[in-house]
Amino acid sequence: LDNGLGLTPQMGWNTWNKFGCKINEKLIMETADYIVKLGLDKVGYQYVNVDDCWLLEQRDKDGHIIVDPKAFPSGMKALSDYIHSKGLKFGLYSSAGYFSCEHRAGSMGSEEIDAKDLASWEVDYVKYDNCNHGGQPNYQRFKKMSDELRKTGRQVFFSICNWGDENAPVWGKEVGNSWRTTQDIFNHFTSVEYNFNQNQKFAEHAGPGHWNDPDMLQIGNNGMTPNEERSHFALWAIAKGPLIMGNDLQNIRPESLEILKNTEVIGVSQDTLGKQGLCMVNCGPLEFIWRRPQVIAAPMSNKDVAAVIINWRELNHGEFSFSVNEIGLELKNDEVYLVRDLWEHKTLGPFSSETYTVPSIPGHGNHALRFSKYKKGKEPQFVTE
Ligand code: GLA
Repeated sequence: LDNGLGLTPQMGWNTWNKFGCKINEKLIMETADYIVKLGLDKVGYQYVNVDDCWLLEQRDKDGHIIVDPKAFPSGMKALSDYIHSKGLKFGLYSSAGYFSCEHRAGSMGSEEIDAKDLASWEVDYVKYDNCNHGGQPNYQRFKKMSDELRKTGRQVFFSICNWGDENAPVWGKEVGNSWRTTQDIFNHFTSVEYNFNQNQKFAEHAGPGHWNDPDMLQIGNNGMTPNEERSHFALWAIAKGPLIMGNDLQNIRPESLEILKNTEVIGVSQDTLGKQGLCMVNCGPLEFIWRRPQVIAAPMSNKDVAAVIINWRELNHGEFSFSVNEIGLELKNDEVYLVRDLWEHKTLGPFSSETYTVPSIPGHGNHALRFSKYKKGKEPQFVTE
């Protein structure tokens, strides 16, 4: 959507993956505090989004949505003000149906009044879901809310949660800043693998202002090993998926926090070129990918190439070699390259061979690398450990 937002994939936090309907204003205010306290805002996490269940099922006599008075006694404007006072941005959820997925009031038929109420609370982000809609075409239902939000004059990131509609990558570009390409993620590596691969089918549609959304992050929810969490993060970064956490920041384990705060991996996600990474080595039908690691690569705005070498198998894979030419690093005779390891924070090289070899890859693990080309003798010096 051409509204000046989402020029790089959205980053933030959302209630759903960890808290579902067990939400209240205290939790959200404390999470905003923790985003700042843990320095997550400094590395780009910006949006604090309240998902389903903040509102009641019925509307008031004038047709307005009713904020759940037990969970949010201070109201949404107060919560919005609090989040803004922390330098963060505020997001809310609604639905392109009569009711949300948890059977709270939906916006279908009330788009204008809801868009105005949301704007009056100064929301910066709306996640718009797809339950209980009686079968009316998706495009019209999502477009209507997008238009009404635009009419309020408030700049709002519009996140289309169109699960079940494989055409959304085609119409979504005009209507929203991102669209879902998968069913809901669950807290297990099989879901990471499935959603990543499903999302890759739509790579050509992604770009600045309009992204494919393989769903939010499960990092920090203790359903994956640190290697699996690292792969989840690196894959979402190179696929230009939203980096929206859905965890309990007050009780997050240090390994998970370190993954989420890796600025070099975030740098791949937030690169201004905005090209979704593609599988370049050992691609093909899912049953074959079990055998060999795949290389997912994306060009960067400074001509670097980012690459995630992913081992989908549960077993450790030994040393692995691939051609740098195949991932888009075309070397001339007088050129060499350096390789930055984004997890180890180490630079290796210079190299001039067309084949590059990574050390062994743990089961469900990855190497996240960034290749930079230089004229021979002109590469920057660095200190090796
Ligand atoms: C759907 C969405 C989820 C979440 C829930 C809330 O399942 O895909 O992301 O918003 O609804 O009910």
